[in-house]
Amino acid sequence: MGFNIDKIRADFPILKRKVYGKQLVYFDNGATTHKPQQVIDSIVDYYSNFNSNVHRGVHKLSVEATTAFEDSRKYVAHFINAEDDREIVFTRGATESINLVANSFLSLINKGDEVLITSIEHHSNLVPWQQLCEKKNAKLKVVPVSDDGNLDMEFLDNMLSEKVKIFALSHISNVLGTINPIKEIIAKAHKFGIPVLIDGAQAIAHLKVDVQDLDCEFYCFSAHKAYGPMGFGVLYGKKEWLTRLQPYQYGGEMISSVSLDKTTFNEIPYKFEAGTPNVSGALATVAALKYIKNIGIDNIAKYEDDLLEYATEKLLEIDKMRIIGTSSEKTAVISFLVGDIHPYDIGTLLDQMGVAVRTGNHCAQPLIDNYCIPGTIRASFAVYNSKEEVDYFIEALKKSLAMLA
Ligand code: ALA
Repeated sequence: MGFNIDKIRADFPILKRKVYGKQLVYFDNGATTHKPQQVIDSIVDYYSNFNSNVHRGVHKLSVEATTAFEDSRKYVAHFINAEDDREIVFTRGATESINLVANSFLSLINKGDEVLITSIEHHSNLVPWQQLCEKKNAKLKVVPVSDDGNLDMEFLDNMLSEKVKIFALSHISNVLGTINPIKEIIAKAHKFGIPVLIDGAQAIAHLKVDVQDLDCEFYCFSAHKAYGPMGFGVLYGKKEWLTRLQPYQYGGEMISSVSLDKTTFNEIPYKFEAGTPNVSGALATVAALKYIKNIGIDNIAKYEDDLLEYATEKLLEIDKMRIIGTSSEKTAVISFLVGDIHPYDIGTLLDQMGVAVRTGNHCAQPLIDNYCIPGTIRASFAVYNSKEEVDYFIEALKKSLAMLA
């Protein structure tokens, strides 16, 4: 499919909404994206036509649901180019995927070992590792970020050693928009035998992700940031790692056999999927990924890059504008401040004019503290945003600033 913004916009029913009588301009895609009709239809179809529990029944509906659920796993594997669909674990989101790995690492970390993260991580890729280190008396080491929002690669080189048992970092910063050079970083880590987990929550809808090419041990994302449903996520893990790790949730389906004395666990990926899974979530995620595939991830990236450039130029025309995150390798996220006006004041006024942005620390408090700022206003774009919306946003911002002057 070619890139037709009007056709794309027409796929998203919520974009017709008005807020406070104004046309909605939704620039909070870093928090969650809206859903195209294809995804909404998939959820309705599942519950209307073949809702049933999976892996548990011999009856027709259960067989249909199980087949569709396992086909979803195959599609996700194909989408990120995993070698084997058993490397795809379904979770509730990127947060749960990271918690799964961090908890499963409990038995692999000892006193004095190191866990490496970076200072641009979302709390989801910080707190689980901090807790792991606290429990095991290990050291949490943090790669710093430079003023422009790039990781300090020299510092990183000095931090890599055999003492590091895992390195967890984001593909793209949810605050700065920086695209980290993860392929290069993964190769560096591997020289010391360090497994690498990539938090791809902000990347999956914006960039091509090929886990074999990256050679990461783990890659996580949430469906809802990629036009899919909330409450559904993916953990990719290399077969040998998933096989080695212990499950951290117990219950139905993750077992092989249970007696009152002993339980043995199921094979990968099922040993990590305790309880009834979110079947409609899996199906709707596939509908979302197919939606992306149909437009073409490279077309999406190019379109969003143009929006980013256009919006950045317009913002920089505003007096006292400060953009936080100015890496040359950026995706369509712009965090900014104007003079010493508090982000909430601007965010509240923009909302009154129908523009949805995020304000605050964006669940990345240490990063915000690093810049010694109270937070930022963040505009984050998706495939359905337009230059006309950027123009409206700039006008609304100028009006807000005039009101606050
Ligand atoms: N992680 C989401 C954001 O950056 C919620 O807004």
